[in-house]
Amino acid sequence: MASKIRVGILFGGKSAEHEVSLQSAKSIVEAIDKDKYEIVLIGIDKTGQWYLNEASTFLLHADNPKLIALNRSNEHVTLVPTKAQERNLVSLGGGSIGAVDVVFPVLHGPYGEDGSMQGLLKVADVPFVGSDVLGAAVSMDKDVMKRLLKEAGIPTPKYLAATQATCAKLSYDDTIKALGSPLFVKPANLGSSVGVSKVEDKQQFAAAVRDALQYDNKIMIEQCIGGREIECSVLGNEDPIASLPGEIKPTHAFYSYDAKYIDAHGAELIVPAKLPPAVTARVQELALMAFQVLCCEGMARVDFFITPEDEVYVNELNSIPGFTKISMYPKLWEASGIGYSELIDRLIQLALDRHRRLHKLKTNVDLK
Ligand SMILES: Nc1ncnc2c1ncn2[C@@H]1O[C@H](COP(=O)(O)OP(=O)(O)O)[C@@H](O)[C@H]1O
Ligand SMILES: [Mg+2]
Repeated sequence: MASKIRVGILFGGKSAEHEVSLQSAKSIVEAIDKDKYEIVLIGIDKTGQWYLNEASTFLLHADNPKLIALNRSNEHVTLVPTKAQERNLVSLGGGSIGAVDVVFPVLHGPYGEDGSMQGLLKVADVPFVGSDVLGAAVSMDKDVMKRLLKEAGIPTPKYLAATQATCAKLSYDDTIKALGSPLFVKPANLGSSVGVSKVEDKQQFAAAVRDALQYDNKIMIEQCIGGREIECSVLGNEDPIASLPGEIKPTHAFYSYDAKYIDAHGAELIVPAKLPPAVTARVQELALMAFQVLCCEGMARVDFFITPEDEVYVNELNSIPGFTKISMYPKLWEASGIGYSELIDRLIQLALDRHRRLHKLKTNVDLK
């Protein structure tokens, strides 16, 4: 039998979505085909240190989303640029760990999903799952993402972006004149609804701006689109496919962090979504367009708002979507005929394909 592929699973990380990542990693570790893959678990703590972990002990309070935590091991590790397939993973204590053949960065938010980790993996010449540096970076920044979507003619809610410096000049009255009321205020670079507020008056506006600025130097102030929340999964590199759409029905004022991860009844997931065939086709078409316009590869989940008149708006694209077994990304593939462990297989294959393709590129100039 061929030797197993060594898959490094990078999880945790420095962002406010650390705990969400732990939950995704737990599901992947449970479901990955152990006959095909040897997993190498690399937990990143909130200060950014990397630890080599064991599958049986890597989480504390694994079943409690409020208390779940990384169980740091004693073995500090790091990734280094080296000749491909050699010892790219080293222990800072001096021990030899060998190499990983491919990495699955199961990291959400800044430092994991924004191109910085992808840059490190690329420099280290390790194949990795998901978007490359550019796709990850432009999809993370909601302001840059929306500029690219708009340029491609993809409908997205109207917004203003403001920084710490420019926020002081924004009056609530001018903002609602431009965008209407209510408004949504959120950090430009984050996910999982961390720092996201729905604003209905001047006081809430000031508080929401202050809160969002705690997480990012740039914030988004958006027109609220009333309607249904629909999500669609995309899989592939140059020739991506779109899943059946699903619907999220939050039981809270919106799809907040609590509704997503803390309250077990925070949202109802309807898979597949009940939509007229033409709306399903439009959602799938826009999901694929957004994936390509934002230079994504491997996977992404594209999130939509659909108005009562069936107008379809792209809210955002997540280049590393939540990956627990009950998360929308894998659930939508399951409903579309690709089960959880086959999905992991395909993503690893796509990572290896891209790496091979990049390696074929010429890196020398032919001198005459
Ligand atoms: N413009 C908007 N109109 C209506 N609801 C919104 C809008 N922006 C955000 N929301 C609500 O807030 C949630 C989180 O916002 P989102 O932009 O998706 O941020 P995140 O990247 O943190 O998931 C959405 O799922 C939705 O429930
Ligand atoms: Mg979202």
